[in-house]
Amino acid sequence: MRKIILAAASVAAFALAGPAFADDPIVIKFSHVVAPNTPKGLAALKFKELAEKYTNGKVKVEVYPNSQLYKDKEELEALQLGAVQMLAPSNAKFGPIGVKQFEVFDLPYILPDLKTLRKVTEGPLGAKLLKLLDSKGMTGLAYWDNGFKQMSSNRKLVTPADYKGQKFRIQSSKVLDAQFRSLGAIPQVMAFSEVYQALQTGVVDGQENTWSNIYTQKMHEVQKYITNTDHGYIGYVVVVNKKFWDGLPADIRAECEKAMKEATEYGNGQSATENEQALEEIKKSGKTEIITLTKEQDEAMRKALMPVYKDVAKRVGQPLIDEFLKETGREPVN
Ligand code: LMR
Repeated sequence: MRKIILAAASVAAFALAGPAFADDPIVIKFSHVVAPNTPKGLAALKFKELAEKYTNGKVKVEVYPNSQLYKDKEELEALQLGAVQMLAPSNAKFGPIGVKQFEVFDLPYILPDLKTLRKVTEGPLGAKLLKLLDSKGMTGLAYWDNGFKQMSSNRKLVTPADYKGQKFRIQSSKVLDAQFRSLGAIPQVMAFSEVYQALQTGVVDGQENTWSNIYTQKMHEVQKYITNTDHGYIGYVVVVNKKFWDGLPADIRAECEKAMKEATEYGNGQSATENEQALEEIKKSGKTEIITLTKEQDEAMRKALMPVYKDVAKRVGQPLIDEFLKETGREPVN
């Protein structure tokens, strides 16, 4: 796959260097892994609409959903090599390229709600984290929401003991690895595009994701149970190839920034509704049983997942976790 990305990148470089007509639009290829009718898919389409409008067609945004161009890890490599210009990977996916600090968003139960999340993403810590991406050849433009994760499996997941020995697909985050290990489960990193089939064929027993991702990938059709845990968050960092972005004419970049700001407000304004609608559709389908935890069962899960904080502190540093918690208005955990 790396060979293909390299080939695409060299074609892109040739196209940039070759003679371009003055009227040729600047193309932004925006690659992502989810369906178009998800919080990320819709925000990407909104960015396309606004960027093309504000630049009077001088910019053309081509959105490629559903891992059509690249899977999770490949898309970050493709961005760095210039084969695509824009992505919105989840926070969990930045570890493998050496920016593990974003994994703090993956800590279980770290965010009680989306309002609290904004305090972090719109505050100094959010800005500081985006800056870390510069050294990786990318510019962080915005934080986009998906929502809170649920647990699914073919076995009923009610108590922490129910997770024992089961295989769960995870995103490429060490926090998520620690999370499932602390439940006695076996985590397995896998690209998003492969999850449905892995569940269907029994390569893994379960997975965790938001209602919108579960619904649009039809995971509920191949999982007997989904437990409404809201135990973690999935959100995205919109990133653009730094060289490409810095090389844009200043007026065009300003219009694209305006489009991004408005697409972010639009997307984040409706992500919760998108997830609620997906939950309703899943319920309507009758293909899976949705389990609601009692207060005591929820507390048992929280308690079982507490050791993850200590484990992750070793990796990203306790000060970062404390800073995050402080911005959400909570006390340090350890
Ligand atoms: C996942 O891999 O489960 C998610 O990050 C996919 C996505 O982009 O929402």
